[in-house]
Amino acid sequence: MDYPAWILSKGIGAGWVIGLIATFHVLVSHFAVGGGIFMPFTEAWARKNNREDVIDFLKKFSKFFLILTNTFGAITGIGIWFAIGLVSPQASASLIRLFTFVWATEWAVFLVEIISLIFYYYGWDKMKPHVHQTIGWIYAITSWLSLFTINGILTFMLTPGGWTKSHSLFEGFFNPAFWPALIIRTLVCIALAGIYATFVISKMDENSKFRKELLAYVSTWMIPAYILLAGALIWYFTVLPPQVIENLLSGVAGGVGAASKGTMAVVSRISLLGLLVTVTTGLAFFVSAYLNPREFTSRKSLILLSSMAIFIFAYEDTREMLRKPFVIRDYMFSNGVLLEATTKKPLKRSFVAEMRFKPADSSVGEKMFVGQCMSCHTMKHGYRSLDKRLGDRKDAESIYQTISIMQKPNEENPYHKFMPPLIGTEDEVRALSNYIYTSLHPNEDGKNKESTESESAKPEIKPETNKQDSKSQIIPKKDSKSAVMILPTEKK
Ligand code: HEC
Repeated sequence: MDYPAWILSKGIGAGWVIGLIATFHVLVSHFAVGGGIFMPFTEAWARKNNREDVIDFLKKFSKFFLILTNTFGAITGIGIWFAIGLVSPQASASLIRLFTFVWATEWAVFLVEIISLIFYYYGWDKMKPHVHQTIGWIYAITSWLSLFTINGILTFMLTPGGWTKSHSLFEGFFNPAFWPALIIRTLVCIALAGIYATFVISKMDENSKFRKELLAYVSTWMIPAYILLAGALIWYFTVLPPQVIENLLSGVAGGVGAASKGTMAVVSRISLLGLLVTVTTGLAFFVSAYLNPREFTSRKSLILLSSMAIFIFAYEDTREMLRKPFVIRDYMFSNGVLLEATTKKPLKRSFVAEMRFKPADSSVGEKMFVGQCMSCHTMKHGYRSLDKRLGDRKDAESIYQTISIMQKPNEENPYHKFMPPLIGTEDEVRALSNYIYTSLHPNEDGKNKESTESESAKPEIKPETNKQDSKSQIIPKKDSKSAVMILPTEKK
């Protein structure tokens, strides 16, 4: 099928499109779930202690959550579906197929969540207290269940565990990282709702007794949440598979090979940052809001909020990066190619013939790039650009030599830890190298036709430099290590 693929080869890459929408959505949705838990509990406490002032506070407080959940939450959630559908059609299709029942549950639960929130907000003065309270509990349970369902799918992607053998929905859903991640997320939700509460409280008259009381009340949520969060994070790291930990640590230690130069070193720093930020935010909260409630300003709560946003970004980014080269670990690579498609059949077979989602009107080289590289690289600028990664290996032959390493067995392919093996016939791999070459040198020797020129069935493209290149400059094919460091061949 020819599919109008979204070609993100310059600047903002596939990962960033999803990353930008997802970071925003994650923040908003965790906020919403946190509010869902915080409000009915606080309402129950207020009703039990006859605190009309707290009920008045909650009335204002719930408006924010109404807008947040029902507009930003819902819209950015749909935004994620658009983005992943365009960027990773295969992975999205797989996740829908594997978890149809879970998605359906999520849909139903979210529907009840938003409806109950509408009743909750508009019902403050119109419903009997116990009815209102019941709606609050429904809101709390459904918003937390929406986290519960999505958490199963997200953790499955990193730690499918026994599912890879059994293919049982139950095992995939309740995978090894399910519980620690659920606890982490629930605590983050609570912390976010608490931070927002402190923001609202900080605006009150600083000498009022009510302000002090409320801050103390919110502290009873926040301080335990932060302490437990640090513990849950450590638990989370213990359930990750050994390869994942290895990737994570190779960056911390400086490591060897290509991985240590790039992404993985960043991941380890980011995850460390995440851990430090939680501890610091927890302490900062304790010292500022709990010990000195009078001096707690809205500015301080905004700082707490930003550090939580950094934590969420660090956590989500680490989780996504640790999956590399997989989108579903040990099952599907980030580019949508199934692991078994690279182990059960020879790599040197036509990839284009097997592509399910083909960009229309594009050359073989471009199809190869879209199908196997674009999910992790842009061509120039931005998201892990090939321009930068290739360094001084940018002539057609060196490009070919570099990427053909991706077709070698794992022992000879140092890239296998972070890149999927490459499927393609000799001609297709040449066409890909050529496509990369022409995209990186658009204005050279009239080769700026770039890629839109259709190559139809048979790719005949050979790198233009081939004719002039003296073969002696190319390191023999067997020697993969030196091919990685191949010297740039002379340009004609
Ligand atoms: C799963 C994601 C992923 C896919 C798919 C992927 N790469 Fe990579 N690639 C990486 C990562 C991660 C690195 C190295 C870390 C860094 O520096 O960002 C890398 C590095 C590279 C490098 C530099 C290698 C070196 O010696 O330093 C080249 C060249 C490259 N990729 C080409 C490709 C091509 C061509 C394709 C498509 C056939 C492809 N990649 C597909 C993730 C991917």
